[in-house]
Amino acid sequence: MSGGQPLFQRVAVIGLGLIGGSLARAIRENGLAVTVVGADKRGDELALGKELGIIDEAAGSVAEAVAGSDLVVLAVPVRATKAVLAEIQPHLGANAVLTDVGSTKTSFVKDVVEVFGKLPAKVIPGHPIAGSEKSGIRAANPELFANHKVILTPADNVSQPDLEKLKALWEGCGATVLTMSVAYHDEVLAATSHLPHLIAFSLVDTLAGEDENLDIFRYAAGGFRDFTRIAASDPVMWHDIFLSNRDAVLRVIDHFTHDLDQLRTAIADQDSATLLRVFSRAKAAREHFSKMLSGQAYVTNNSQKQVTFRLQPGGRISGEIRVPGDKSISHRSIMLGALADGITEVKGFLEGEDSLATLQAFRDMGVTIEGPDAGFVRIHGVGINGLQAPRGPLYLGNSGTAMRLFSGLLAAQPFDSELTGDESLSKRPMGRVADPLRAMGAVIDTAEGGRPPLKIRGGHALTGIHYEMPVASAQVKSCLLLAGLYAEGVTSVTEPAPTRDHTERMLEGFGYHVHRDTATASVTGGGRLTASAIDVPADISSAAFFLVAASIAPGSDLTIRHVGMNPTRVGVINILRMMGANIEVLEERVIGGEPVADLRVRSAELKGIDIPEDQVPLAIDEFPVLFIAAVCAEGRTVLRGAEELRVKESDRIQVMADGLTALGVETTVTPDGIIIDGGQTMGSGTVNSHGDHRIAMAFSVASLRADGGIEVTDCANVSTSFPGFVELAKRTGINISAEGAE
Ligand code: S3P
Repeated sequence: MSGGQPLFQRVAVIGLGLIGGSLARAIRENGLAVTVVGADKRGDELALGKELGIIDEAAGSVAEAVAGSDLVVLAVPVRATKAVLAEIQPHLGANAVLTDVGSTKTSFVKDVVEVFGKLPAKVIPGHPIAGSEKSGIRAANPELFANHKVILTPADNVSQPDLEKLKALWEGCGATVLTMSVAYHDEVLAATSHLPHLIAFSLVDTLAGEDENLDIFRYAAGGFRDFTRIAASDPVMWHDIFLSNRDAVLRVIDHFTHDLDQLRTAIADQDSATLLRVFSRAKAAREHFSKMLSGQAYVTNNSQKQVTFRLQPGGRISGEIRVPGDKSISHRSIMLGALADGITEVKGFLEGEDSLATLQAFRDMGVTIEGPDAGFVRIHGVGINGLQAPRGPLYLGNSGTAMRLFSGLLAAQPFDSELTGDESLSKRPMGRVADPLRAMGAVIDTAEGGRPPLKIRGGHALTGIHYEMPVASAQVKSCLLLAGLYAEGVTSVTEPAPTRDHTERMLEGFGYHVHRDTATASVTGGGRLTASAIDVPADISSAAFFLVAASIAPGSDLTIRHVGMNPTRVGVINILRMMGANIEVLEERVIGGEPVADLRVRSAELKGIDIPEDQVPLAIDEFPVLFIAAVCAEGRTVLRGAEELRVKESDRIQVMADGLTALGVETTVTPDGIIIDGGQTMGSGTVNSHGDHRIAMAFSVASLRADGGIEVTDCANVSTSFPGFVELAKRTGINISAEGAE
C-alpha cells in the first residue's frame, strides 16, 4: 500500500473480473481503503485475487463481504445485477455506500428499486469508461482508470458527502469524474459506444455471410480491420447491454438508419452535393473529436490551452512578408457564398479560429464547403432560403463578428437557433444587435445584460426599419443589412462615423444592390445572391503589428505584400504617418472590389499626437499596437472617443495600461481613451494578455524596444486572427518563442 488517507475502512468488491479486479487493485495500491474484500462465485478467480495481492481478503459469500463494509462495489455482469443486489440488500449496513460499474444505468436503477423498494440516497450508480480486450482477474490493471473518465449518475436525493467520497475514490485511482443523469448517460453511451459496437458486429457478420467471404477477409484493408476491431468484444456482455439499454439504443439506431438511407439515396441519385456535405462535415468532426467531446466542436478550446510568449529585447525588422487573409472579409465570404446561388471560390481565406468557426457553423447548417486548403475554399451555395436547422447550438469561439452577423441572418430563418461562444465572447454585449433586430420583428433571448448565448426563435417575418446606430459599429450595420435581405421592404442603417464597408461591397459583388448615401446604407429584402470569386487581401489589422514593429525598431526595412487598403480600414496608416512613420504605399490596385497595395515601412523617429476622433473607427482593432508606438514616440499621445475598446475581446484600454505598468510604463487611463507620455523605458516583466490576441501580439512588438525580456501569458487566442504569427515574427527579426503551443 502506498501512502494517503484511506477514504473507506472496508471496501467489498463483488465480482472480480477485469473491472472489479482492476478497481480492487487500484484502491489497494493507492491506499484508498484500509481493507479490500473480494467476493466472486468463481472460486478459482477469487483465490487468484488473494494470491496475486489484488484483494486483502477473499470472502466466502456476498453476505460475508458486504457485512461490515462501508463501500460495496457491484462489478458483476449486467444480467446478474438483480440477483446479486438481492443477496447484498439484507447485509448492507445503514452507513454503507453502494455503487456499481455497469455500462447501462437505467437498468441498474430499475433493479435497485425492485430490490430495495426505492433508490436509497447512499446508492450511487457509476460507470468507468475504461476497458481492455483482455478479461478476467489476471488482466487486472491498477492503471486501467488513470486518465479515463468515470461517470456517476446520482439521483437528486443523493447523500452529498458520500458522493464526494466516491468521487475522491475514483480520482484517487487517477480517473476524471463526471456526473450526469441516468437517462442522459444511457443516451450518450447508446450513441458513442453501443451503436458502434452494434455496427461492427453487424458488418463483420454480414460480410462473413457473403459467398466470397474468404476473399473478402483475405483482402480486407486496414480500414476494415480498424473499423471492426470492437467486433471481437465479449458477445455475452454486449447482448446484455443491448437488452438493458433497449430504448436509447433503438432511438439511435433509427436515427442512424435514417441518415444511412439518405446516403444510399444520394449515391443512387449521383447526388455529389449531399455526399460531399456529409463527408466533409464528418471529417471536420472527426478531426476535432476531442473538442467535440468537450462540447466545443471544431474550434480549438483555447481557454484550456496555455500558451506563453517569451521575448528577448531588441532586434531589427526586415524582409518581405505576406500576413494572413483579412478576418472581416473571410467571415463574409463564407456567409454570402453559402447564401448565394452557385459555387463561390475563395482565395486567401484566413484559416484562423474565428473564420473557421463561421465556416463550421455553415457546415452545421447543411452547406457543403470544401477546404480550406492553403487559403482556398469552395462553397456550394444553397441559395438565400436554403439553410437547414443546425443539430445543436452554433459555437462561435472568440468571434464577436460571427455572433453579431449570424444573429441578423438567423433571425430571419424558419428554424430556431442558439449562438454560443467562449469565455470572452460570453461577456460581450449583444443587445446592440438584439434590440434593433427585435424592432424588425425578430424574437431573440439573451442571457442577463444582453450577453450570449443568443437564443433565436425562427419563423418570424421581419420588416425593414430605419436604424440610427448609437455606436459606430460595422458589426451592427452588417447584422442589420443581412437581416434586411430577408425583411419586407427597405432596411437602412445610418452610422455616426464611417465604419468598414466590406458587407456592402461584397453584397454588390454578389449582385445584391446596396443603396449608399453618405452615412446610410440600405437594402431591399427579397432578392437573391449570385456566386462570385473572392480574393481575400492580407489583413491590415495583422499587418499593423509589423508596421509598428518596423517603425520603432532602428535599422528596419520591411515590405508587406497584398495588404487590404479599404479606406474604412486604413486608420492605422493615417495615424502612424501623423506620428512621423515612414510608410510607402506601392502598387495600388483593386482586386475583387477591394483596394490592395504593398507597403514598405522603414524605421522612423515617431512623435506623440492627439489622435483625431474620426480615425478611431478606422483603426479600431489597431490601438493595442498603436499604444506601443506611442510609448516609443517622443511626446504625448492622447486617445479619446474610443470607449468601444472596452468591449472588445478584452477591455483593451485597461488591459494595455496594466501590461504597460508591468513593464514600468505609466499611463493615464480615461473613460474613453488613454494618455501616454512617450519616451519611457519599457523594462522586463510579465504581461497578462487576458486571452486577447491583439494584446498578445502588441506586447511581442514592444520587445523590440524593451530593455529586458518580456513574458506574455494567455496567448493561445493569437490563432483566432493570426495563425503562424510566432514564425512570421521570428522571420522578420522579433526574438520570440512560444511555450505550450501545439
Ligand atoms: C468587425 C468590426 C469591428 C472590429 C471587428 C471586426 C467586422 O467591430 O472591431 O474586429 O468584421 O465587422 P465593431 O464593428 O463592433 O466595431
